[in-house]
Amino acid sequence: MPETPPPSLFPLRVRELVFRANGRCLIDHISMVLEEGPRTLILGPNGAGKSLLLRLLHGLVQPTSGELRWGECAPAPPARDRQAMVFQRPILLRRSAVANLRHALRHRGLRGAPLRCRAAGWLERAELSEYTHHPARQLSVGEQQRLALARALSCLPDILFLDEPTANLDPISTLKIERLILQAHAEGTAIIMVTHDLGQARRLGEQILFLHRGRLEEQGPGKLFFKKPASARAHEFLAGGLIL
Ligand SMILES: Nc1ncnc2c1ncn2[C@@H]1O[C@H](COP(=O)(O)OP(=O)(O)OP(=O)(O)O)[C@@H](O)[C@H]1O
Ligand SMILES: [Mg+2]
Repeated sequence: MPETPPPSLFPLRVRELVFRANGRCLIDHISMVLEEGPRTLILGPNGAGKSLLLRLLHGLVQPTSGELRWGECAPAPPARDRQAMVFQRPILLRRSAVANLRHALRHRGLRGAPLRCRAAGWLERAELSEYTHHPARQLSVGEQQRLALARALSCLPDILFLDEPTANLDPISTLKIERLILQAHAEGTAIIMVTHDLGQARRLGEQILFLHRGRLEEQGPGKLFFKKPASARAHEFLAGGLIL
């Protein structure tokens, strides 16, 4: 009998999400609905709460109040183990490139030939086959980031969160990362990503969330956002102005 697929994690309904710390409201009553299809890019100035929102969505940080609801089912499907996250600075084990992938796959229950095959396949997709047995931490920053991304994608997550995955990378490394993201999305992985690179946001952002001081100022299709943002702050932000 074919296995029934697990219930979808979408739509994601966020209701009145608040995160307070040290007397400050860092995530300020965010409500939104995210559908599965569009690649979602989160934009906003430094300190707007982008990374914090990503961590709240991924369940790394617990909200002070408010609700996150994945999918239509009650009780909600287990979300965390169907998600993966890639950070700005890759966090790799002090082992070879392939051992980093194998470790993640073992954690997901894979063993033997399927595990070895999947690890090798993802190293190849990330153009890292020649570094299979190299110590991961000796790879260049761009290669390390591709390895971190390949490790996340090798677990076939339903959702991939990325927090500025190409900050500090050159244009070629950036495009290689973007290509992997686009392929993963085409293969059914939902993408929710933070970037400061507006060119990248234009290339990848089918939906934009614009944050300012912990508030969701604007949510809308990428094309519309870049052509005619609804809020004055987003307009300033796109024009490169200082927004307070
Ligand atoms: N776990 C936490 N506890 C307390 N304060 C936090 C926590 N995480 C983030 N903050 C604070 O929340 C604010 C928003 O931080 P966040 O890292 O989300 O900003 P950001 O929009 O990602 O900025 P940047 O573009 O610089 O990465 C900052 O003032 C930060 O110091
Ligand atoms: Mg951040």
